[in-house]
Amino acid sequence: MANVVVVGAQWGDEGKGKIVDWLSIEADIVVRFQGGHNAGHTLVIGNQTYKLALLPSGIVRPGKLSVIGNGVVLDPRHLIEEIAKLGAQGVAVSPANLKIAENVTLILALHRELDAHRESSTTEGLKIGTTKRGIGPAYEDKVGRRAIRLMDLAEPDSLDQKIARLLAHHDPLRRGLGLEPVSAQAIRAELDSVAPAVLPFMDATWDLLETARRDGKRILFEGAQGALLDVDHGTYPFVTSSNTVAANAATGSGLGPKAIGYVLGIAKAYTTRVGGGPFPTELLDAIGERIGDRGHEFGTNTGRRRRCGWFDSVLVRQTVKTSGIDGIALTKLDILDGFEEIKVCVGYHLDGARIDRLPASQAAQARVAPIYETIEGWEGTTAGARSWAELPAQAIKYVRRIEELIEAPVALLSTSPERADTILVHNPFRD
Ligand code: GDP
Ligand code: IMO
Ligand code: MG
Repeated sequence: MANVVVVGAQWGDEGKGKIVDWLSIEADIVVRFQGGHNAGHTLVIGNQTYKLALLPSGIVRPGKLSVIGNGVVLDPRHLIEEIAKLGAQGVAVSPANLKIAENVTLILALHRELDAHRESSTTEGLKIGTTKRGIGPAYEDKVGRRAIRLMDLAEPDSLDQKIARLLAHHDPLRRGLGLEPVSAQAIRAELDSVAPAVLPFMDATWDLLETARRDGKRILFEGAQGALLDVDHGTYPFVTSSNTVAANAATGSGLGPKAIGYVLGIAKAYTTRVGGGPFPTELLDAIGERIGDRGHEFGTNTGRRRRCGWFDSVLVRQTVKTSGIDGIALTKLDILDGFEEIKVCVGYHLDGARIDRLPASQAAQARVAPIYETIEGWEGTTAGARSWAELPAQAIKYVRRIEELIEAPVALLSTSPERADTILVHNPFRD
């Protein structure tokens, strides 16, 4: 029985939440290891829809333990709100089913404000199109060794000193940006107000996970965002501020690399992206609009319309390599029902030459032109199919061609938002 890591193989919103929820029946523990509440994971279970941003998608299954690992940046105010929202939907979240790493970095009001301020800039090239949730600024403070971490709330005597260290950076920065100064007392009040609600969840989660692992418990690591938003391997600078590739599941939860067994990449049968940055197969025409409308492609958190385009096998093949993906869960195949023909990007032209990977340079990424292969669409529908036999032959052909191009097998196929509308080809936990 291998532990499984689920990661996005494109630019996020591939359907990770649905797949993690579906797989979590086989898991004992579900762990978030990076990102924060910039994620938006939608789960549809019967007539209930759950929208999660920070909590692991396993939280809706009774009897499963959810863990927020050290690699996450945690906004305590948001955590309290999300727990309350789930409570209203009948999902009880307590220290019995949620543990948070004591060394997790906190997102504060000043991070959200800084993120929003940068995004309001009119200077060309400064805007990333972030979720304005303070993710980037919080990771900057973590790496800058001045962040406030969860365990600091449990040591009130030394908290003011830590706030002073944080402000030694933010004071001159805010002055330079023309922002009002933030007082140390305001930050102290912010932290004191959330401490009683979040401290009960605190634990040495690395230790808890290692013990569980040795006891033969099954761990499911839930990635947020996607490999092309990875701060090293993505379309920099149009990326998020954490490593989203599978290897970070170990670092971000405090386990060694051998804790990772099977890597399941999630990819849509087409491509979407929210925010700025290069997108070689983007469709700015009626077809792109049709995909977006049929797929309800709107950001879960920000409500922004997602940019849509054809499946880009060059990108996913690259992701298969940078994340070490063993198999793919291909989602939203149903959205392509009824298309007469479907295109797949099989390579790029760059300055007259043919290339088979995304170049690293920002300027080159913006210049690549996709080379398409056209595949005949299918009559009939894949929507709601629960077995391979229910799929039109031509739809199977499309899936087989994708497998060939990305050099990885399709382990799962998803045909609707609903939990049960999933076709299993290979169970990742039974590698
Ligand atoms: P995540 O961020 O990767 O978890 O993905 P999101 O939840 O942000 O976006 C995926 C959206 O597609 C959600 O609204 C899901 O309910 C929905 N979804 C997932 N799988 C399928 C599928 O196979 N077909 C259709 N039509 N919708 C799906
Ligand atoms: P899930 O987990 C899609 C994008 C933002 C922006 C960039 C940086 O639902 O797949 P950030 O706020 O992280 O500094 O924004 O990353 N982004 C996502 N796009 N899905 C997500 O999460 C995303 N999280 C961040 O739109 O382009
Ligand atoms: Mg999402």
